[in-house]
Amino acid sequence: MLHEQRFFGPGVPRRTLLRASAALVGSVVLGGCTTADPAPSTPTAIGPSDPRVAMAETARRRSGAGVVEAALTAAPVTVDLGGVTVSTWAYNGTVPGPELRMRVGEVLRVAVTNGLPEDTTVHWHGLALRNDMDGVPDLTQPTIAPGSTFSYEFVAPHPGTYWFHPHVGTQLDRGLYAPLIVEDPADPGDYDLEHTIMLDDWVDGTGRTPPQVLAGLQGGQMDMPGMGGAPATGQTGNSYPSSLLGGDPGDVTYPYFLLNGRLPARPLTLYAKPGQRMRLRVVNAASDTVFRLAVAGHRMRVTHSDGFPVRPVDTDAVLIGMGERYDVVITLADGVFPVVAVAEGKAGQSRAIIRTAEGPEPAVDALPAELTGRVLTEADLIATEAVLVPERVPDRSHDLTLGGGMMPYRWEINGRIYGQHTPLPMSPGEYVRLRFVNTTTMYHPMHVHGHTFQVRHPSGPGARKDTVMVMPGQTVVADMIADNPGQWLTHCHNLYHGEAGMMTALSYQT
Ligand code: C2O
Ligand code: CU
Repeated sequence: MLHEQRFFGPGVPRRTLLRASAALVGSVVLGGCTTADPAPSTPTAIGPSDPRVAMAETARRRSGAGVVEAALTAAPVTVDLGGVTVSTWAYNGTVPGPELRMRVGEVLRVAVTNGLPEDTTVHWHGLALRNDMDGVPDLTQPTIAPGSTFSYEFVAPHPGTYWFHPHVGTQLDRGLYAPLIVEDPADPGDYDLEHTIMLDDWVDGTGRTPPQVLAGLQGGQMDMPGMGGAPATGQTGNSYPSSLLGGDPGDVTYPYFLLNGRLPARPLTLYAKPGQRMRLRVVNAASDTVFRLAVAGHRMRVTHSDGFPVRPVDTDAVLIGMGERYDVVITLADGVFPVVAVAEGKAGQSRAIIRTAEGPEPAVDALPAELTGRVLTEADLIATEAVLVPERVPDRSHDLTLGGGMMPYRWEINGRIYGQHTPLPMSPGEYVRLRFVNTTTMYHPMHVHGHTFQVRHPSGPGARKDTVMVMPGQTVVADMIADNPGQWLTHCHNLYHGEAGMMTALSYQT
């Protein structure tokens, strides 16, 4: 069957395939009911191979839509970050990996070859795609074994700024990430040129690897920079407290912060003309770092959050949590201007340069005054009328109580770590209200797979998002329509929190 072929992809050894599909079946049967012949009234989870998943995909297909093909190889590589050379893992040999671009409604077909020494998957962050292409081990697909290839194929139903990364272990904190831009031909956009900016915190190959960082945290150590992790030029001098995060800025001490894979001393330079309007699609691909981004000498107009349009708001700076994306438009002045992303509450920053004139490059540690002006967060945004999910009495509500802490290093949802969790049931077509209740002393960027939700503040609607910052002690309400059947991971996008348990699943049931 075409579907099966797609699901397991070419090159997966049959033994792996059988083992993996057994695990899949086990993981989607609810209530511990594993009998071969359940009573008809027993609710059954709608798994990734359920026909409803394919039906939802068929409904997204537009006749005559094109197919965009791409090939990705995840493999070890040595890269120069700009004066610092590291061994890491990357897609197609670069950090970030290649930007993929398609138009809304088109099909993306990507052959992913695993050249790593361990299993991997690819998750297409933010896209409401078919469940069996979501890239979550055991929950939606078997992992891709070393040396094998899996073909992802899905329709992109919404335009916007998205990205992709593995969903196995701490692989995201290596160089395995890249942008996925879904263009909207019907929306010409109020700008002349655009660039994608990926922000990252970097440790891999500096004397420690991400698995070692996790092991250290779980072993009860305070995270300290390792050998060879001495701060590079331009990595010190942060003077911004993390009051916006409610205190604790993160668990990991990173030696470097990168913008499009580069250290501040060798920045990306964007050339343009004065007066042009430049759209920046900003992605926070970091594992444990929030960034505060500003462009010297400019205000920016925020137009989209997590790919979805918002009523435009002008601001000096924007706060971006892990997994979040903000699109901003700036009208360029005449000169040479640093775009700086400060690691919020940490020591260091990353940067690019916008150049509309000749002139010397700004000092490597130059910090735009705009960083201490108005700093926009999700709380300042409202979805546009076209994408706003109107308020209704929910058919079903779920609390996700965020708990845990550093000692021991354990982060949980509803008192459980992932693997011991109780999936949160829902039925196709329901209006579902999620409440993220943060009982911890740290912020958590909470991400829902396969859906975007309407953030709802006490004062009214917020942005339409797939990843939302939940500050210490705060409760965030997120309303969503259950229109994409399957099993969907929901988790903290602090990679180390997720790995330490802060994940659960939304489980569609018949
Ligand atoms: Cu970037 Cu599970 O997600
Ligand atoms: Cu967290």
